[in-house]
Amino acid sequence: MKPRVLVTRLLPEPALARLSAECEVSVNPEDRPMTRQELLGRVRGAAALLCLLTDRVDGEIIDSAGNALKVIANYAVGYDNVDVPAATARRIPVTNTPDVLTESTADLAFALILDSARRVTEGDRVTRAGAFRGWAPLFMLGADVSGATLGLYGFGRIGRAVARRASGFSMRVIYCDEARAGEETERELKASFVTFEELLRESDILSIHCPLTPATRHRFTLKEFSAMKPSACIVNAARGGVIKEADLAEALRRGLVAGAGLDVYEDEPKVDPGLAALPGVVLAPHLGSATAATRTRMAMIAAENVLAALSSRRPPSCVNPEAFG
Ligand code: GLV
Ligand code: GLV
Repeated sequence: MKPRVLVTRLLPEPALARLSAECEVSVNPEDRPMTRQELLGRVRGAAALLCLLTDRVDGEIIDSAGNALKVIANYAVGYDNVDVPAATARRIPVTNTPDVLTESTADLAFALILDSARRVTEGDRVTRAGAFRGWAPLFMLGADVSGATLGLYGFGRIGRAVARRASGFSMRVIYCDEARAGEETERELKASFVTFEELLRESDILSIHCPLTPATRHRFTLKEFSAMKPSACIVNAARGGVIKEADLAEALRRGLVAGAGLDVYEDEPKVDPGLAALPGVVLAPHLGSATAATRTRMAMIAAENVLAALSSRRPPSCVNPEAFG
């Protein structure tokens, strides 16, 4: 009998075909996330769970699967939606989809940098509303991206890919991360390591590229926004919970910071109504990895992770190697 894989949402076809060759694949038939009850029920007896960042996978879900479960393959690079310690305690590997989405996510972050600084989306609304009355010297003035100081909070694969783009715009790049990058990387990307306080104080554009962890949750609150330049823009294409959303809305209303470009939210798909009311904020619907090619590559990696675990090989992108003892 082929092992059963539960796929919680319809994925790009090549990955489903790859899985079907070796597994019995059950895919959520609905075009919406599975409810908790559905997930608890459908995961029973599954040998693999291929899940999304919209699924909360904790000890209860894992126990509901029973002893057959060999892998939790998350279709995302971030895996804050999975209780990894609970999986490790049950010796179940958890996998993610790194690398393949780095460039797409960095592209989207850069789109938000340009858009929030140069007011493209806001201007689009102005034009559609018939409020463009012709070129004028003081009409919709934004801030220069070229030559500005870009502060990166998080300097992993995606943060570095954004730094590479920034060099084409002659930006000064500063970064803050738990660990300092090697000298060669800093030289190649022309990026300087700074303290968190310096990052806040000096960034014209501050872009977030860290994972969501207990240490980074609500790392940006009113206190941090108050320490930034009033002309600064904040960009987040990582995870919404890194910013306390209501505080960002208040900071923007009070003019503590000038603009924001967001792709992620604390409680998706909800967006703080205070933010949505501000015309100068760009609100993208979590599009970081959303290109056809990248989503297919992510699905193929997730499928490879599943197939490796089911044939007792170590999955290529396992985030908890401790699970193997
Ligand atoms: C997308 O948000 C991801 O983490 O892959
Ligand atoms: C994710 O790929 C990161 O390390 O930024």
